[in-house]
Amino acid sequence: MHRTHYAAEISEALVGTTVAVAGWVDRRRDHGGLIFIDLRDRSGVVQLRVDPSAGAVFQEADRLRAEYVIAVQGVVKARPPGMENPELATGKVEIDPERLVVLSEAKTPPFLPHEEADRVDELVRLKYRYLDLRRPKMLGHFMLRNRVVFAFRRYLHEHGFLEVETPALARSTPEGARDFLVPSRLQPGNFYALPQSPQLFKQLLMVSGFDRYYQIAKVFRDEDLRADRQPEFTQVDIEMSFVDQDDVLREMEALVHSVFQESLGETLAPFPRLTWDAAMRQYGSDKPDLRAGPPLLDLTEQARKSRWPILGEAQHVAGVVLRQVNPSRRQWDEFVERSRELGASGLIWLWKGEELRSNARGLGSELLEGLATGAELRPGDGLLVVAGAFPLACQVAGQLRLDAAQRFGRVEQGWRFLWVTDFPLFEWSEEEGRWVSAHHPFTMPHPEDVEWLEKDPSRVRSWAYDVVLNGVELASGSLRIFQPELQARVFQVLGLSRREAEAKFGFLLEAFSYGAPPHGGIAFGLDRLVMLMAGAKSLRDVIAFPKTARGTDPMTEAPNRVDPKQLEELSLAVIEPR
Ligand code: AMO
Repeated sequence: MHRTHYAAEISEALVGTTVAVAGWVDRRRDHGGLIFIDLRDRSGVVQLRVDPSAGAVFQEADRLRAEYVIAVQGVVKARPPGMENPELATGKVEIDPERLVVLSEAKTPPFLPHEEADRVDELVRLKYRYLDLRRPKMLGHFMLRNRVVFAFRRYLHEHGFLEVETPALARSTPEGARDFLVPSRLQPGNFYALPQSPQLFKQLLMVSGFDRYYQIAKVFRDEDLRADRQPEFTQVDIEMSFVDQDDVLREMEALVHSVFQESLGETLAPFPRLTWDAAMRQYGSDKPDLRAGPPLLDLTEQARKSRWPILGEAQHVAGVVLRQVNPSRRQWDEFVERSRELGASGLIWLWKGEELRSNARGLGSELLEGLATGAELRPGDGLLVVAGAFPLACQVAGQLRLDAAQRFGRVEQGWRFLWVTDFPLFEWSEEEGRWVSAHHPFTMPHPEDVEWLEKDPSRVRSWAYDVVLNGVELASGSLRIFQPELQARVFQVLGLSRREAEAKFGFLLEAFSYGAPPHGGIAFGLDRLVMLMAGAKSLRDVIAFPKTARGTDPMTEAPNRVDPKQLEELSLAVIEPR
């Protein structure tokens, strides 16, 4: 019995014809002798209607249970008036089966595809992932993911990018997370590292003259997991030669526009560009969520007049305007509490009604009025004021801006992209007591700041950029250093001796001595992008077989113990954890 149609294709146009469909029993209902079965396949569901007069077919239908796999041949009929289901694409028709074959039976599943995912424990969903993926919503995520990948490939192919695969068994790369190691049998005591990104290989391809490269690359990072982090994830990794920053930004923005157009049919607005410094001042974050209301205000000048040193002498005073809200006393207190949790010494709030209300009346009405005027408060508006060091004051205010938008339901709908540029080249690591790369050690310093490399590394901006969507870092990239002398100076600031640099990246430095073009690139987090496009809350909902927050797979029970013989072959011994 060959399948002639997918379930969702059974329409009024087929009434009177004989069709064959196959799939799973989604639901079975008995109605006074009649049996109704919803047959589900990848496309959707179609109803079968089995009459007691149908003999053998009825007997088969009578023993069907949820998730049995069946094949059916029958005539398409219009449903009787009043029996249509407007919720269903195939709701005006049903199939009257002439043959019905059970292809395989199913045990009672731990949960059903049409059950709400929230009602099922996530560990159970992951243990029975193949059942979880039967849920139409999950399937929808993977159909979207497929369209997105296809759209990336189409654009990149049409714009001269060459897809090249790079090794998974490689050497450690410089993204700064912990490596996953793979022991070598042939070189006892030696290890490969799974790539944290194809970074070094793509730069080598530029030295080879490939000019434009991309790869949909699986990469691996052994870091603490969160909803938007998985230990293995997929990057759309890109590199281009003979480009400046503007070339990369323009091409990559066109790429994202094209991906949204093709896979969602949505036209995006041009991406605004913000420097890192402006992003920190205006949003207190290097990944601003532009949907969460107006930017922060700089009230440092207005606060100078205060006799309270905490305000008057603060390095920075940031304000969050809350338009047309009327928080309760308890809600104001919660903002104060939250500001302390976030590391501020406290918070001043104001609310403009008939008169000005505030938790800091002691500041005097002149100063409070000054702040309210500085913030252009209108009647019914509130204001949160955080004073402190820069950038902490902004970071706290930035987080309160997000909290408030959530609390008062003011997060706008839509795709709010932006570029964040001019990141600092270095960050000070308290833990290591030295400067570390904010992006990676091959990132090009801003030419205007090169003179500060040795004198004041904190002042050096870089040609590094991120794509941010709705408060999530979607992609990150930079122009790369291609001049050995400049690279040596950067290594020196990082406290990397010539010997150490040779040992770690010698092959790349050597490659650069054979003629390297100026180059730069970016990598998109594909899983994050699909998560946002699908409106999903976790990366686990857009990765077919993801890991739990503890890095395990409840279905296959990876990671697992291995045979002692395997260890011996690898010259490894396990030190039992205490
Ligand atoms: P970066 O380390 O910023 O840059 O990674 C690029 C993008 O990958 C996504 N991402 C993740 N997604 C899921 N789980 C994770 N654990 C995870 N970590 C990162 C983010 C991020 O923006 N080689 C450089 C790129 C370059 O310079 O060209 C790199 O890997 O969306």
